[in-house]
Amino acid sequence: MSSTPPIVILEDLAPHVALVRLNRPDALNALDMATRLALSDVFAKLADDADVRVVVLTGTGKAFAAGADIKDVATRSAAEMMARRTHILWQSIAQCPKPVIAAVNGWALGGGCELAMHADIILAARSAKFGQPEIKLGIIPGAGGTQRLVRAVGKFRAMKLLMTGAPIDASEAERIGLVTEVVDDADLMQRAEALASELAALPPMALAEIKDVVLNGEDLPMSSALALERKSYQLLFATEDQKEGMAAFIDKRKPRFKGK
Ligand code: CAA
Repeated sequence: MSSTPPIVILEDLAPHVALVRLNRPDALNALDMATRLALSDVFAKLADDADVRVVVLTGTGKAFAAGADIKDVATRSAAEMMARRTHILWQSIAQCPKPVIAAVNGWALGGGCELAMHADIILAARSAKFGQPEIKLGIIPGAGGTQRLVRAVGKFRAMKLLMTGAPIDASEAERIGLVTEVVDDADLMQRAEALASELAALPPMALAEIKDVVLNGEDLPMSSALALERKSYQLLFATEDQKEGMAAFIDKRKPRFKGK
């Protein structure tokens, strides 16, 4: 008896590294409600899984994700869109305390580009394409595209992407600061695994503090952001990993971080 494959696949990529794979290739991994719910559930689960230190997010087939499922929302009323409360589902991704690496394997459009921007590091296959085409549908981005994109690439580049809706290729995305690294298509997952494993060997609590301070700090006045950083820096002296990291340096040996 054949069973339907899950729309979001969760597997182990490497020790302490989880792989989350959107799996609706026939719809270019468009984010319908079922996919959004599954994605949110998976991220909530990963946040609580002490064995997982790093998350890699990718898509099956020729897309990372082609955005909101247009067929799912085309005829909805504003009240129905409000009632979906999808922003709550995005929160479990945005608030993931672990490093998230997006491995963008193809189209990352609309909500797909916004999903990539929920990550901390974006790796792109050379053939990947990024864009916010919502304007062509008579809407605007609804999952942070107008805000995260401006913060990532600056007003004038963001405005062009948002206002024209035209996609850009991976090298252009890298040039403007939307992508961390571009790699050959065949090497994407290998590079994601290597980078994720590099992060997984580092102290998880300090990584979580970097994420917390960077993401929360950018919305604060500089003096408050610096205070946030200072407190976080001081707090890390309460961890075993800080003691281990510094002792290992002094003893000229490799540290073993435990996440404590
Ligand atoms: N929603 C629903 N279905 C989608 C989809 C989407 N966003 N993107 C692609 N699909 C479906 C297509 O309808 C098609 O299904 P059928 O075979 O049943 O016809 C299948 O996926 C393959 O797509 P195409 O035939 O279009 O593939 P292509 O290679 O010719 O084109 C593409 C690829 C340029 C990405 C094109 O599919 C496209 O433009 N997709 C829509 C992208 C878009 O506008 N995204 C923004 C959505 S709004 C949003 O995301 C709001 C938000 O902020 C959350």
